Amino acid sequence: MRPYERKIFELIRETARELNYPTYVVGGYVRDRLLHRPSKDLDVVCVGDGIKLAESLAEKLRPMPRVTVYSRFGTAMIKHKDLEIEFVGARKESYSENSRKPAVENGNLEDDQNRRDFTINALAVSLNDHDYGQIIDPFDGLLHIEQKRILTPLEPGKTFSDDPLRMMRAIRFATQLEFQIDPDTIEGISKYRNRINIISKERIISELNKIILSRKPSIGFELLFETGLLDLIFPEMLALHGVEVINGKGHKDNFYHTLEVLDNICKHTSNLWLRWAAIMHDIAKPPTKRFDHKHGWTFHGHEALGAAMTPRIFKKMRLPLDEKMKYVQKLVRLHLRPISLTKENITDSAIRRLIFEAGDDIDDLMTLCKADITSKNPNKVKRYLTNYEVVAEKIKEVEEKDQLRNWQPPISGELIMNTFGIGPSRQVGDIKTAIREAILDGEIQNEFDEAFRFMIKKGKEKGLKVEG
Ligand code: CTP
Repeated sequence: MRPYERKIFELIRETARELNYPTYVVGGYVRDRLLHRPSKDLDVVCVGDGIKLAESLAEKLRPMPRVTVYSRFGTAMIKHKDLEIEFVGARKESYSENSRKPAVENGNLEDDQNRRDFTINALAVSLNDHDYGQIIDPFDGLLHIEQKRILTPLEPGKTFSDDPLRMMRAIRFATQLEFQIDPDTIEGISKYRNRINIISKERIISELNKIILSRKPSIGFELLFETGLLDLIFPEMLALHGVEVINGKGHKDNFYHTLEVLDNICKHTSNLWLRWAAIMHDIAKPPTKRFDHKHGWTFHGHEALGAAMTPRIFKKMRLPLDEKMKYVQKLVRLHLRPISLTKENITDSAIRRLIFEAGDDIDDLMTLCKADITSKNPNKVKRYLTNYEVVAEKIKEVEEKDQLRNWQPPISGELIMNTFGIGPSRQVGDIKTAIREAILDGEIQNEFDEAFRFMIKKGKEKGLKVEG
């Protein structure tokens, strides 16, 4: 423990003694300390008034922190240095059928531990003089940490129907900590899965994103699948599951393929949105699937449809609709392009187009493509990787020559309008596109004079006259 934390605990102990409140550290902080994981959130429970405890402690701290009081919940929060400390009076809670907002009564430590989600989160450490530092572990949480198990302290049905978000939390902890969820607890999740519908989409996505940011997110997605939650929170991903066979020919199971791609990419990036691009890259395979007697299974256009589905899915799941969504959409749309560049005799112009379209995200696109190699044949994997190395080299060469990343064509719409004395119109757009295409195709150089001459030629073809 850091000396600073030791000092804070001593001060809480002193304050609790003065107020005569039995006081404990509970929940995630205790769990994380035992697991040697860093934790900056400290939950303090006292048998008394949590807000008063927070206010009295604040007076002892320098610089004196602000106490944020949530009177509706009877809790108070102090941010001091890098710690966020939350104070609450021990409570009993009971929940009604259709809400996750609990009715709260005062209680003792035991009541407070009973209402917690998992045995590993129900551990308390005393901050009281007579047993300072002692762990109070009514549900064998210590043993379960050692055994790497996740289970509820009470009957799972009670814990999950009290707060259905806990079903997501169980799977999130199993993924983050790489623990096993007990069979009874898994059964409880399956049984109560429909209760997830009373939880806000924002809270669900926050848990899902923590799963995605773990070392191996497939653990979480497999559990979501197994318990039936995936169908409720992300049906488009569930649709990837399964193999259809016609005339003895099957396609690969795109759910497990996607999970492999996701786990692969996690070895190379902690960017949540690049990880989301891995999740989404084949999302349109189910709706584009066709069986052709000559070619077998095809998924033509899945990259374009996948890009089109991205905003809808992001909106429904309350993911951001800003440039992060556009980034995912772009990677989904372009994810097959580098493969097509591994063919022989690829022209500079094809490479130029990809650099132009991908802009700064070209390296992330290559990371996605490499993660997409899930062949079990090591020779094939080696060959595909070497092909991508060749593409990466070509990209580098063309970039150095043409400086096309985030490139803007040298002729603006304004110059076109002034040159021909015309206002904003379709013709301006057509000439601009023609210049861009000519540069990307290598027909003209990427520089002003040549582009200007080309513009004049195109204008004349359209019957326009140069002004003045
Ligand atoms: N808790 C609970 N049910 C919930 C949320 C929280 O019982 N739906 C309890 C658990 O005892 C948990 C504690 O409140 O340990 C603190 O919750 P929170 O800060 O959300 O989670 P942590 O367990 O601290 O984990 P993390 O910081 O990784 O979210």
